[in-house]
Amino acid sequence: MKNIVVLISGSGSNLQAIMDACSQGSINGRVVGVISNKANAYGLTRAENAGIATRVLSHKDYGDRESYDAALVSAVNDFAADLVVLAGFMRILTPVFVSAFEGRLLNIHPSLLPKYKGLHTHQRALDAGDKEHGVSVHFVTAELDGGPVIAQAKVSIADGDDADSLAEKIHQQEHQLYPLVCSWFVDGRLQMGEGKAWLDGQVLPACGYVTH
Ligand code: GAR
Repeated sequence: MKNIVVLISGSGSNLQAIMDACSQGSINGRVVGVISNKANAYGLTRAENAGIATRVLSHKDYGDRESYDAALVSAVNDFAADLVVLAGFMRILTPVFVSAFEGRLLNIHPSLLPKYKGLHTHQRALDAGDKEHGVSVHFVTAELDGGPVIAQAKVSIADGDDADSLAEKIHQQEHQLYPLVCSWFVDGRLQMGEGKAWLDGQVLPACGYVTH
């Protein structure tokens, strides 16, 4: 059984999907700890309801990003993590954190990377007149939203869509995609090497494994 630690800042619906997949046996691992930088994140309640240990580490208690990230490294290490999953953790991470977990640190980002790194991805896709949008799961490297993509799922943008309706469509895809990628990792099928993502010994294309 691999130990998974999930970092959140908000609702934690992806955390829920991962916890559910663990309890249903579709991920061969268990969520051993949930860390939030926000005390009021609803994901903390989800974790408590599932009997999982939680920890709040507020960035406001630290003078700079590096000292926060050092505290975060030790909080994650307290849980003896094999896999560290960023699930709506809305912090820019420094190399202090990334280098401690590189190769076993995943993020989910609501766009078809390399498009729309950063924030407000749904609105940016709408403003650009895109006909499709989507979500990416990637290995985290020091470059913001820039690590090798593991998998993407696409959604179509319809005429009446707004940022909220797109967020909902994206969430539905995320809740399938993120547990799947976590299962690959804990089963030893997924690695990062030579700056690329590898699944079953094969290099994945730049857009990762495409499910839709
Ligand atoms: C998800 O849509 C995730 O892709 C996004 O935050 C949401 C968290 O939802 N992440 C980012 O924007 C990272 N830059 P959740 O708290 O319900 O899982």
